[in-house]
Amino acid sequence: MKKYFYNSHYLNSNDLSTVIDSLKRNTLSQGSYQKLLEEKIKKKFNVKYCIAVSSATAGLHLAYKSLGLKKNDYIITSTMTWNATTNAAIFCNATSKLVDISDKNFCIDTKKLENFIIKAKKKPKIIVPVHFGASLCNLRKISQIAKKFKIKVVEDASQAMGASYGKNIIGSCKYSDVTIFSLHPVKTITSGEGGLVLTNSYKIFKEVKLMRSHSTFKSIKKEPWSSKALKIGFNYRITEMQCALAYSQLKKLDKFLDKRSMIRKEYMNQLEEYIGSIEFQEINHLDQSSNHMMIIKFNSSNFNLQKKYKIYDFFRKNNIYLTTKYYPLHNQYPFFFKKKKYPKSEEYYLRTFCFPIYYNLKKKEIIYITNLIKKAVNIFKLNV
Ligand SMILES: Cc1ncc(COP(=O)(O)O)c(C=O)c1O
Repeated sequence: MKKYFYNSHYLNSNDLSTVIDSLKRNTLSQGSYQKLLEEKIKKKFNVKYCIAVSSATAGLHLAYKSLGLKKNDYIITSTMTWNATTNAAIFCNATSKLVDISDKNFCIDTKKLENFIIKAKKKPKIIVPVHFGASLCNLRKISQIAKKFKIKVVEDASQAMGASYGKNIIGSCKYSDVTIFSLHPVKTITSGEGGLVLTNSYKIFKEVKLMRSHSTFKSIKKEPWSSKALKIGFNYRITEMQCALAYSQLKKLDKFLDKRSMIRKEYMNQLEEYIGSIEFQEINHLDQSSNHMMIIKFNSSNFNLQKKYKIYDFFRKNNIYLTTKYYPLHNQYPFFFKKKKYPKSEEYYLRTFCFPIYYNLKKKEIIYITNLIKKAVNIFKLNV
């Protein structure tokens, strides 16, 4: 029987033929598909500059570095994100401070963020709002705080390609200095592995572009036969095959988003009578979601870790491989903080699972999954 996971990519024959076309061209890296992809992204997301890189992690690293993050500096982000957000700060010899999430949309709690920054003797260098699952951070508030305290903003929009914050498409950098997208296979569109750095700042663009390839440059006038570096750089280049795939996938972005939105609606329709026992991630009605994750929270007062194991096993026996995204960062390397500092993230981690949501998921499969959710609520007495 078919196995179900929380997310999956979708490829069609156009994707395959575009990748093959990239192989037929002379250049395998830093060629015409990279240019095409970057140009198309700039237009689609209404932003001045785009640099395609090997992953979103690489993009975050370059963005932080371009903003001058260094030893004794720190970034501030939410404890509910993938390790990449904070690892990229370690790559810059800097550290991270964590803030708890809102218990409704599971994104950074901006009140707590503001309180932290007001009280902090040394202010963070960068605020990194992570658009999480299906929801977007309160960018207006974050940008107000950042302006007041002269802090930079890097949106980690790895999960949010195609989402809009009010009327502003994520990627336009209306409220931030840089936005990062991931092209990992579970994301809205994929290149296998890959990332995109978007900015309206020419200075950031130049820096990121240079560091993508060891910061080496050619002088046309002096010794034009060679290239040299004046500072550290990296190999964060992305191949032409990957750019070709992302370029082809981008044509399907709207189709992917529509389907994800329909799937979320179907879950909500099927489970309408169970609202209360279960809860969905809150999405601001003014925003358009990328619906990256279908997070369901079990609200019952008798819910505990043992029940979570039982629910997990129950779904696994029925071929649904559940996951909880993420293990809270504050309990992992290099943080290991006391749990009580982040009660909402702890609660979220205990009570949620991510259910399947992806382009190829059929209505009858959603009904199969939601029937299992109903059964689980009844079997494990989760409606109290
Ligand atoms: C919030 C967040 N940030 C960063 C990343 C890193 O993306 P990549 O795997 O492209 O480096 C991910 C990927 O899961 C993510 O979800």
